[in-house]
Amino acid sequence: SVFSNGFLVNIQTLLNQRIQAAMVASGAADDAPALVRQSAKVQFGDYQANGIMGAAKKIGTNPRDFAAKVLEQLDLSDVADKVEIAGPGFINIFLKNVWLGSTLESLRDSDRLDVATVTDPQTVVVDYSGPNLAKEMHVGHLRSTVIGDAVVRTLEFLGHNVVRQNHVGDWGTQFGMLLAYMERLREQNSEVSMALSDLETFYREAKICFDEDEAFSVRARELVVSLQSGDAECLKLWNEFIEVSLQHCEETYQMLGVSLSRADVKPESAYNDDLPKVIADLDAQGLIKEDQGAKCVFLEEFANKDGDITPIIVQKTGGGFLYATTDLAALRYRQGTLNADRVLYFVDARQSLHFQQIFTLSRKANFVKPETSLEHMPFGTVMGSDGKPFKTRSGGVAKLSALLEEAQERAFQLVASKNPDMPEDEQRNIGRVVGVASVKYADLSKNRTSDYVFNWDNMLSFEGNTAPYLLYAYSRVASIVRRSEMDVANFKAPISVVEEQERALAVKLCQFEEAIQQVINDGMPHFLCAYLYELAGIFMSFYEACPILNAEDDVKFSRLQLALNTASTLKQGLELLGIETLERM
Ligand code: ARG
Repeated sequence: SVFSNGFLVNIQTLLNQRIQAAMVASGAADDAPALVRQSAKVQFGDYQANGIMGAAKKIGTNPRDFAAKVLEQLDLSDVADKVEIAGPGFINIFLKNVWLGSTLESLRDSDRLDVATVTDPQTVVVDYSGPNLAKEMHVGHLRSTVIGDAVVRTLEFLGHNVVRQNHVGDWGTQFGMLLAYMERLREQNSEVSMALSDLETFYREAKICFDEDEAFSVRARELVVSLQSGDAECLKLWNEFIEVSLQHCEETYQMLGVSLSRADVKPESAYNDDLPKVIADLDAQGLIKEDQGAKCVFLEEFANKDGDITPIIVQKTGGGFLYATTDLAALRYRQGTLNADRVLYFVDARQSLHFQQIFTLSRKANFVKPETSLEHMPFGTVMGSDGKPFKTRSGGVAKLSALLEEAQERAFQLVASKNPDMPEDEQRNIGRVVGVASVKYADLSKNRTSDYVFNWDNMLSFEGNTAPYLLYAYSRVASIVRRSEMDVANFKAPISVVEEQERALAVKLCQFEEAIQQVINDGMPHFLCAYLYELAGIFMSFYEACPILNAEDDVKFSRLQLALNTASTLKQGLELLGIETLERM
């Protein structure tokens, strides 16, 4: 049976375990990995084990002979009908059609596609989105927000205990300038709340006063000092500003369909009281050196080839604390109070050195346990077609909310021209879903570590690895199922895998769990996107080659079952990516 501990194991894991056991029984080291992978070409079977050569080399035998020995020890007769040695010692595995069919039947019987919840759930702290509250969210926050959210959803789906941490910037020196501007508007009896409805303009105007008006800039500096020393009046003003800014963020999260709520906000200011303690702790451990009045930590790990070390500045001359100090305090809280087993940071690649320094120092200072995994999940920049970071047509930073509105409008136009007879409110709704999905999916489907070019035509195209393609594919499968007039909720038919296209679809459907493992292990949702895109394509070829509704009952029911499985896998996969589906479009 494919079940272990009552759960379906994924095929890769199952084969890894069996082949590794056979390798050990044939004389390989206990930890010699079987390295089972999905095969890249049909002639190599569905899976291949690449670990034989390495293991044979270690024990000094001929790899092909060793492979033959392993095959003698290996019984895969329940899952595979052919197991072959190929090339210098690869093992190719061809899964059995009957087994694929019964595996899919068991997937169907579960409302979670039999993806097992983990037996050892971890506490995973995920730091994502983290906008600076002085301004409105812009395109630069898109990646952290949507990639982080997809990983969070997937971790939770697998049963991990996830703690979202929205590390918003609410405590920098810019707030002095903003508060001074609020004060000034108030003195002039202008409507402050009106002015705050557009934070970009508010920031720009405050900055002009700051740069051009001496008295204003003096007042701004005073206000920073009062704020940081906890002056009540000042805090009141600041709270008012922060509240409005957080509401802007929440509106954007809502539009984006991102699962962050107010409870997940743990702002920089929350660590204010911990900062002196961080310094005292580092000092007590002899880690701090004064350098031109500033408190610094010099770690040898960060020396360049001439031996010069880039220090971590933890306190400025004059006493001010820094971004790094707050991150040290935050990490200590995540370990000490939240009890994290893993801490994931979805932050721009340009902050890589910062995080490497924070991680190394936190370990040195025992702020985190040695077994806790600290992972910076860096991402590249969203670029414009000019090869520079993406800007609006007028050259300003692109506000995220405006970008999403434009996406919805463009998608609506597209839908209206394709379906002129559809009622407008339905066109609008489809436009809303497709527009947002297109922006999100364009980001999620790219390898996180590279830059990508923001391009409306590509992301809204119905061809290729795009949201419109996938949403349309889903709605087509849904419509096939609808047209069968089957009682979908209670429909259960035996699945028989016969035709080549049925087989390809069955194999792909069984690989869902493998795709989502990559999302949680590497924090890379593009693997899931690629999987869903391939699944949709394989379904289309299946549908062309294997008529469903006109086939004889047994065949029809089996194929319908494959269609139903495809629909639920697409829907579940898109849900993990944070993308809404449409039954009709
Ligand atoms: N506010 C920061 C920025 O806009 C991102 C915060 C990332 N998280 C962190 N723990 N440093 O760059």
